[in-house]
Amino acid sequence: MPPLLGVNIDHVATVRQARRAAYPDPAEAARAAMRGGADFITFHLREDRRHIIDSDLPRLAEAVSAPLLNMEIAAVPEMREKALQLRPARICLVPERREEITTEGGLNAADSIPELRDFCAPLIKSGVEVSLFVDADPRQIRAAREIGAQAVELHTGAFANAAHPAPELEKIRAAARLGAEAGMKVNAGHGLRPDNAAAVAAIAEISELNIGHAIVARALLAGMEAATREMRRVMDAAR
Ligand code: PXP
Repeated sequence: MPPLLGVNIDHVATVRQARRAAYPDPAEAARAAMRGGADFITFHLREDRRHIIDSDLPRLAEAVSAPLLNMEIAAVPEMREKALQLRPARICLVPERREEITTEGGLNAADSIPELRDFCAPLIKSGVEVSLFVDADPRQIRAAREIGAQAVELHTGAFANAAHPAPELEKIRAAARLGAEAGMKVNAGHGLRPDNAAAVAAIAEISELNIGHAIVARALLAGMEAATREMRRVMDAAR
């Protein structure tokens, strides 16, 4: 069985927020991704609301249903409240710094075990599957288990950006094995593209991949010709 695919639609909202416009609509992109074979939709409600904004949440739930949403949040009370209201099937805790361009590293779960255990407890009790986004580091995998997370998502950014990816892939394999042996579901994501996703998808212990930027970037180029043609038709019909 290949891993499930969670399509991250954040960067559809990035394009919208560049103009504070009403389009492109991430909910519409979510529907299209599902038609294209996504198994669920991933999004990150950041504290600075740079892409997904609060009013997207009910619209995403309506577009694909809350059980098909994977919500990425920082471990802060405001976001936990939002998650408990929305009730997505999956929640992934990610580190967040305002100055970062994207999620640059995994959560340092190992140095905040009691705090994260307290933070996760109400989410787990509510029936949501809680995952921690961590580097492929045995210390972080063991910490996720101690915290009580049902899943870990392995950060594949170091692998995706490496000039020589083989050692990074080996770390992901070893971390996936460790996570599965500890009884957790193991997911992965960040920086995956058509040219590097297969190596990660081939790891038997990995259940789900979350992929966003490469899919949104490809969608832009794949649709450019049709979008230009549509505008051409509008102008040609005007005279
Ligand atoms: N998984 C997590 C936890 C993320 O934070 C992100 C980026 O928002 C992704 C996966 C997707 O990464 P990318 O957009 O590089 O495919």
